[in-house]
Amino acid sequence: MTAVGIDAIEIWTGKLKLDLPETVAPIKDKDPEYYTKGLGLYASSFPDAHEDIVTMGANAAYRLMERKGLTPDDIGRIDVATESAFDNSKPVSTYIAGCLEQVYGDDFHHANKGERKFACIAGTQSLDDAYNWIKAGRNRGRSALVIATDTALYARGDPGEATQGAGAVAMLIGEDPSLVELSTEQGYGSADETDFLKPNQQFPSVDGKRSMQVYLARMREALEDFESVMGDTHLDDFEYIPFHTPFPGMVRRAGLLGYRHMIRNTDVEDELAAEIGRQPREAEYDDREAYEQAIRDYMDDLKSTDDYREWYADTIKPTLGISREVGNWYTGSVHIARASALQYAAENDLDVTGRKLLVGSYGSGAQAEIHAETIQEGWREEIGHLSIDEQIRDRHDLTYEEYEDVHDRHNHDKRVELDDFTEPEDEFVFVGRGEMDERTYEYVE
Ligand code: HMG
Repeated sequence: MTAVGIDAIEIWTGKLKLDLPETVAPIKDKDPEYYTKGLGLYASSFPDAHEDIVTMGANAAYRLMERKGLTPDDIGRIDVATESAFDNSKPVSTYIAGCLEQVYGDDFHHANKGERKFACIAGTQSLDDAYNWIKAGRNRGRSALVIATDTALYARGDPGEATQGAGAVAMLIGEDPSLVELSTEQGYGSADETDFLKPNQQFPSVDGKRSMQVYLARMREALEDFESVMGDTHLDDFEYIPFHTPFPGMVRRAGLLGYRHMIRNTDVEDELAAEIGRQPREAEYDDREAYEQAIRDYMDDLKSTDDYREWYADTIKPTLGISREVGNWYTGSVHIARASALQYAAENDLDVTGRKLLVGSYGSGAQAEIHAETIQEGWREEIGHLSIDEQIRDRHDLTYEEYEDVHDRHNHDKRVELDDFTEPEDEFVFVGRGEMDERTYEYVE
């Protein structure tokens, strides 16, 4: 059976940076460590005045196509995953294809284009669609472009404001991929939840604390569902576990939950028993409250053990390197977690070919999905092409007043004019609105 998976990846960060401990903490009268230690975030990315979800997505996709020497004929689908769309009918993928057609002589008239929505999990769902399309033999030898692009803004003053971010991830999905093969097996945890939603509004209504509980509950269900087809998961099975990362502190919780689950009824649990006891079993408790308290106590002890700390440092922490510098990219977030882990492996000269990733995606509303990926031979070369570290370094560092102007500029209800902070070069830019209020774009050399 032909392997299908991610052949190439490109990442584009919004070109502005908001420093959380340096710039935001003094204004909000917060301890800088609330951001860096509590949430695990150092900075957020924002789009410059000439950027939006279309330019960021088109720029990532163009870089990817140029690097792989592709033309529009090689692409049979363009799927965009976003929860920041500005049009309820015309999909963002048509705008992005329109941008790309400006620079390629050819067009994408025979590519199927769509837009996926299910909060942050839509990026992974688009990967699924591409995978299924290729496995069904409908691709005629062509590949799919999946683009996850978002400007994750919250209302000013909302607790979620600290977790904002903006950027795009373009992925090429094809046969015999260079980066990772996707597993056919998947697990789902899905329920009708109102933890985070945007009912015809740009900024989310969020129940932050509840959203964290829902994330963990759905993720646990998805893992159990995954194990029902794949058998029990074990610590040694996976080199890295990239999770959806709204902020690294959320992944700290997810990692601990996953670890507890994976060590249950194993030698690791037995070995740790001398230090912290065995995991509480529900049958041993008279009521649910007592059981839950016992679980919380066990988790508190577990996270201080050397075994857990080592596993976290090796398996989870490497996935957070990009995220802590850019914030939440919604649909792109789990995909920068994967890229971050592989970058870490390359930088540390690790040989991870053939090793597996366990990928935990999540979208509010709410659904989690878990699948495995096998790292392919070409991973090192592919990941070596990423320029995300340079992009992160080169961002314009905003003052707090500038940040407020940028937030207003990207507020759909305000239509604020703002000068660029950075000079666009070799990229697509937003230039204004057309007669039907459509957004228009140009390529700037
Ligand atoms: P909050 O209430 O300001 O934060 O907002 P907190 O009080 O819970 O503090 C966070 C952590 O910082 C805690 O650590 C504190 O102890 C610690 P933890 O208990 O986690 O270990 N802390 C400090 N640490 C060091 N020094 C200090 C200090 N002070 C406190 N001085 C919240 C947090 C997440 C609620 C907020 O940011 C929010 O509403 N965010 C938006 C919602 C969100 O991101 N939810 C995550 C799960 S849902 C999801 O991932 C989906 C999403 O991506 C959307 C989609 O799918 O489309 C959001």
